[in-house]
Amino acid sequence: MLDEATLRSDTPGSDRVFLNSAGSSLPPRQVLDATIEHLRRESEVGGYQAADERADDLVGLREGIARLLNAAGPGTIALQDSATRAWTQFFYAVPLNRGDQVLVAQAEYASNAVAILQQAGRTGAAVRMVPSDPSGQLDVAALADMLDERVQLVSLVHVPTNGGLVNPVREVVELAHRVGALVLLDACQSVGQLDIDVGALGVDALSATGRKWLRAPRGTGFLYVRPELVGELEPPVIDLHSASWTAPRQYQLAADAQRFELWESDVAARLGLKAAVDYLLALGPAEVEAAVRGKADRLRAGLAELPGVTLTDLGERPCGIVTFTVDGLAAPEVTSALSARGISTSVSRAPSTLLDMSARGLTQLVRASPHYFVSDAQLDETVAEVAKLR
Ligand SMILES: Cc1ncc(COP(=O)(O)O)c(C=O)c1O
Repeated sequence: MLDEATLRSDTPGSDRVFLNSAGSSLPPRQVLDATIEHLRRESEVGGYQAADERADDLVGLREGIARLLNAAGPGTIALQDSATRAWTQFFYAVPLNRGDQVLVAQAEYASNAVAILQQAGRTGAAVRMVPSDPSGQLDVAALADMLDERVQLVSLVHVPTNGGLVNPVREVVELAHRVGALVLLDACQSVGQLDIDVGALGVDALSATGRKWLRAPRGTGFLYVRPELVGELEPPVIDLHSASWTAPRQYQLAADAQRFELWESDVAARLGLKAAVDYLLALGPAEVEAAVRGKADRLRAGLAELPGVTLTDLGERPCGIVTFTVDGLAAPEVTSALSARGISTSVSRAPSTLLDMSARGLTQLVRASPHYFVSDAQLDETVAEVAKLR
């Protein structure tokens, strides 16, 4: 069990009803302190010396992320400045040719989708959409029928931006690997709220951000790559950190996931990310998952009682993202009215998850994403305020 009073006192912004951790969460003061302290140090000795002084911690960051994901070691982790950068560094490294196929699920995120379409246009590869099952999760049986040796990659969003759906990962990986296809897991909305074990899931790569459920500073993210695969992939963008210039016409890529990184970075933000990862590891990812689910369940149960409010989360066991519509009110009207009452929520719009939203005839949803630091009283207050809107 998490100690909510401590979590709340660690979180300077938690007096406000903050229900947007799926957007960009409230960092705990440990993250804030680590970040600001480093910026201050940079102002005293310059960015290079300040980074040198924290070299061990920067190694420790990769170790911490590897521990969080139960990955084989720090060499499987490439630090990035966003989830999209992590995802694209891997995606564009996967060789595609005419006749190859990339499979995407209904929950696909817009940034991934446009990259896949761009690459399909360049290479002649085909993009196919895997349907969902009646619960809204990726239809594993349909996927099995679509897989053959033409499929090079399955792009799977673990938790979409527009709802509490949790897609099945292990089953997808088992099927994909039977035909030699890779699985790239977009875990942007799951890392930090769900307990993730890449060894057990078997994914080939995973991308994530710091700013959402991990509660790290903006401009942070990371990529995990299965160690056996790293040596086979040439990242689309490299520099003197990803590769060494070994002869006038030769370069050698780093042997591990460092080949997916670039040299320059916001060191203060990375130290903030380290503090966030350490904070989560100290709480325990399984405890955090249970706590976040408990908060979302409470909010969903309250909203489900309200006439004119429709919950729109999919899947057999929804996670911390709660989405809904209110009869007679557009989603932005709901979020602005709640904001005026000190409650932060956000709007999910169709273009972000076009396949899913079009299939369901939805254009906009209200998204409320409570982290473990939101009190039950704040959740109940939210339900009461939504009730008043009608
Ligand atoms: C499912 C999903 N994937 C990827 C991203 C992109 O993350 P970033 O903005 O860190 O690149 C988001 C952002 O909201 C997301 O919800």
